[in-house]
Amino acid sequence: MPRVREGRVELEVPELEQFRAGTGDYVPSRARVFYNPHMELSRDIGVAVAQVMVEELGELRVCDPLAGVGVRGLRYAAEVDGVVSVLVNDKSEEAHGFIQRNVEINRLAMRVEVERRDANALMFERRGQFSWVELDPFGSPAPFLDAACAALSGKGVLALTATDTAPLCGAHPRACVRRYGARPLRTEYCHELGVRILVGYAQRVAGKHGLALEPVLVHATRHYFRVYLKGTRRKAAADEVVRSQGYVSHCFACGRRRAVRGLVPVLERRCECGAELAHAGPLWLGRLVDRELAVRVAEEIVRREFRRGKEEIKLLRKLVEEADGPPTFFTVNEVAKRIGRTPPSPRRVVERLRREGFFAARTHFSGEGFRTDAPWERVVAACGGEGEL
Ligand SMILES: C[S@@+](CC[C@H](N)C(=O)[O-])C[C@H]1O[C@@H](n2cnc3c(N)ncnc32)[C@H](O)[C@@H]1O
Ligand SMILES: [Zn+2]
Repeated sequence: MPRVREGRVELEVPELEQFRAGTGDYVPSRARVFYNPHMELSRDIGVAVAQVMVEELGELRVCDPLAGVGVRGLRYAAEVDGVVSVLVNDKSEEAHGFIQRNVEINRLAMRVEVERRDANALMFERRGQFSWVELDPFGSPAPFLDAACAALSGKGVLALTATDTAPLCGAHPRACVRRYGARPLRTEYCHELGVRILVGYAQRVAGKHGLALEPVLVHATRHYFRVYLKGTRRKAAADEVVRSQGYVSHCFACGRRRAVRGLVPVLERRCECGAELAHAGPLWLGRLVDRELAVRVAEEIVRREFRRGKEEIKLLRKLVEEADGPPTFFTVNEVAKRIGRTPPSPRRVVERLRREGFFAARTHFSGEGFRTDAPWERVVAACGGEGEL
């Protein structure tokens, strides 16, 4: 079996070429046990977030119930000071074999326990025992959320990966309604809406367990969303979280949009321009990224000299920049198309809006995007459309 190095661990992995598509991407369904080298960036950031969270939580007891070859759980055990135990589990017999060998190769048996169980049964059985629960499934984490919330202790982190971006972004809206009880919308900022739908759903599930979940860092990269939610088991805090859920009403005719808080708010039917509005939600309308935490995560990445560190830092810089902005963003292409202009550079639009005293930032969600609290008329003007409205 081939071996790879990732971070500070060495791993036995399945023959990668077996499940490589013509595009160069690795397709999980082609392999019986899955290891995707393209997810290294996501795992590096996970290690850095965990290290920063140790400062806040004191120590971490990790549960990696959908582990594949065990890479995430083993990296937390080997690379994060303050991780005192890791439970690494996968129901597949073959994956279980890889995990056991990888624990031996890295001499981690003292801190790592290996199981071969159904993830939900295991997490319910070990309720309240973990301060970091990692859900890295094929597709949607929704089927595992209830058990993951039960498994979290009083204070902890729920780390989610979702690769079902097509439903969450509105390409398959019915699947999104089924899985997340929320309507997506295929707008230029649909990836952000998808992340907000995922966060909102996780929060509503957590509420049943008296658990308040607040996002501290999220990113949409390649074909997946990654979300880190900090949990506190306090009913008042859980009520507070639900108050920041709501809807985004979008006008496909003119591009205006507005965020409306509340689970049962009155949603306007028509936009100022007279066209009918479309609505996405319920979803989380609060902060997606804790700016201070993102700065510390970036410092941790620099300190560790990860081999994809440059790319990771670039992403973290954007997250820091956009952290304090409002929900939803514009793209220069979309605005320019509406006013019949050539798209300006997003950097110049951001500079101009800042000079005018507005919040403005680039967004990691889209290279053409910019986030601002400026009103629609100023957005149009900043994109070269003076006198258009
Ligand atoms: C996307 S892979 C995990 C990838 C891994 N975390 C990594 O970074 O390489 C999802 C894994 O979940 C396992 N799995 C799926 N359903 C499960 C269940 N109900 N209980 C336990 N394991 C399950 C699969 O066998 C698969 O290995
Ligand atoms: Zn309109």
